[in-house]
Amino acid sequence: MSRFVITTTMALGLALGAAGSAQAADAKQVFDFYCAQCHGVNGDGKGVNVTKDFATDPRNFTNGADMAKRSDEDIKGVIKDGGPSISKSPLMPPWGATLTAAEVDGLLAYIRKFAK
Ligand code: HEC
Repeated sequence: MSRFVITTTMALGLALGAAGSAQAADAKQVFDFYCAQCHGVNGDGKGVNVTKDFATDPRNFTNGADMAKRSDEDIKGVIKDGGPSISKSPLMPPWGATLTAAEVDGLLAYIRKFAK
């Protein structure tokens, strides 16, 4: 019993300690895992999955002029509900069932940083 309590407390401490400081790193991890195969690790839309057969190129997040046309709500919406939700390509999948709201917020901030 006492052993259980000590272990739980330690795990909780570790989790809480990591939460704040690791947020930026988390967004990168989520992006690299779910998005980079299409949008590219550098956000340039040249992910390894993208071939000439792709009917629509994934959005290039480094294009500041294009990205400035999108509000934060637009970007979060398309991440959650996919391309067709804003009359865009179904090649952009919906992620609302996979990602938490906090992860979507993190991705929004992460994507915005690519734009020059
Ligand atoms: C299977 C390939 C693929 C994956 C994986 C993917 N996307 Fe996309 N994404 C696309 C394509 C293609 C478009 C362009 C759609 C269009 O312009 O019609 C796009 C467009 C977008 C846009 C811009 C929509 C707009 O307003 O023009 C955002 C933001 C976006 N993706 C975010 C993400 C995020 C975040 C992830 C990971 C959680 C992700 N995408 C994963 C293919 C993908």
